[in-house]
Amino acid sequence: MNEQTRVFTSPDDQVAWLGTDPIPAHVYYDPEWYELERKAIFLREWLEVGHMCELPQPGSWIRRELEFANASILIVRGKDDRVRAFYNACTHRGTQLVEEESGKGANFLCPYHFWNFGDDGRLVAAPDFDRFALTKDQCRIPGIAVDVVAGLIFINLDPNPRQSLREYLGAYADRMETMPVAHATTFAEYTYEIDANWKITYDNFQENYHLRHVHGLTGVATVHKDNLYGYPDSYGFNGPHRTQQIWSNPEPLIKPMQGWNMGLNVRLAMEQGLIGGPEDRMYFALFPSFFCIGTPIQHFSHKVYPLGPTKSRGVIRVYWCGQDRSASERYAREYAICAIHDIHVEDVNIINRAQKGLLSGALKHIHFMNMEGLCRHLYQNVVARVEAYKTEIAASGDVK
Ligand code: FES
Ligand SMILES: [Fe+2]
Repeated sequence: MNEQTRVFTSPDDQVAWLGTDPIPAHVYYDPEWYELERKAIFLREWLEVGHMCELPQPGSWIRRELEFANASILIVRGKDDRVRAFYNACTHRGTQLVEEESGKGANFLCPYHFWNFGDDGRLVAAPDFDRFALTKDQCRIPGIAVDVVAGLIFINLDPNPRQSLREYLGAYADRMETMPVAHATTFAEYTYEIDANWKITYDNFQENYHLRHVHGLTGVATVHKDNLYGYPDSYGFNGPHRTQQIWSNPEPLIKPMQGWNMGLNVRLAMEQGLIGGPEDRMYFALFPSFFCIGTPIQHFSHKVYPLGPTKSRGVIRVYWCGQDRSASERYAREYAICAIHDIHVEDVNIINRAQKGLLSGALKHIHFMNMEGLCRHLYQNVVARVEAYKTEIAASGDVK
């Protein structure tokens, strides 16, 4: 894939190249289109699924459910310190090896007939194995491509990924390595399920146009008289991925709106010298459905897993580096996750309503203005992959 790095002088210029065409509405609910996305994107692109702080020691492992692939997978840090991924499926008759979300141990023992697998997916022992016309080597669990950038664990379900993870992320890989999340040691997490297409859900968090109207109660601090909609300072694009430099409110405490005052954790962080450079306020959106933002004292990430054409699951995390160094730092951290959760409740409600309005099929198109350019960029990259997939299938004569 050609990397596309663009440098412009104003946010408006930075998104002009994306055009202004209306967007077909059916891509947000049509089951046939969703099936194409599933095969063209989610079964063959690199997907973020966790963080290395979940695998603190050799032998640590985590399970992830990937409903869009009907797959449960295990990600394991082996005794040799290598990270591997394989399916949570016994090669005897398919039984899932573990039900727990995470654990630690050198082996995975199937509960059905006690086949025992090593931390690399090899079959190491099986009762009365001589009665099978098999070698143990033939019983290795199929592996899954896995790699780590900035502490974040990515997998690729394509048996032969077309790019390495670093090729896929391009210049963003090194930039993300400098972010706090690369050194995170723990996190707070909450998940949500929503009756909405994954793109509708994700797009809500790619634009600031709605902040002023949807978040009046929680009072998102980016809204200010100098920037009524909290538009970002700049946008950037890199292949299918994108960034925005989050605008910083110069008066986060002076004119708090009713309810939450999001400036509080910023002030506490400033007082303690925890705020870093501008890269700390950079929003990285990684195709297809993951983004992370470096905020002053923690690192926020959000990913959206598709569960069906109009159903999704979101996973939100606030990553922390090290232990709290003071009571106010602890307070600021707890405050941040609570504030994010409250803001998010407002988002979920409006995303649901957006999906409901589209389901009748009465609207043939929807529209993005230029400051919703990141949503347009996602749509264009989805279409490009679906079209490439259709061409590939047609050329191969395959009917899948
Ligand atoms: S299904 Fe796993 S040992 Fe039989
Ligand atoms: Fe929002």
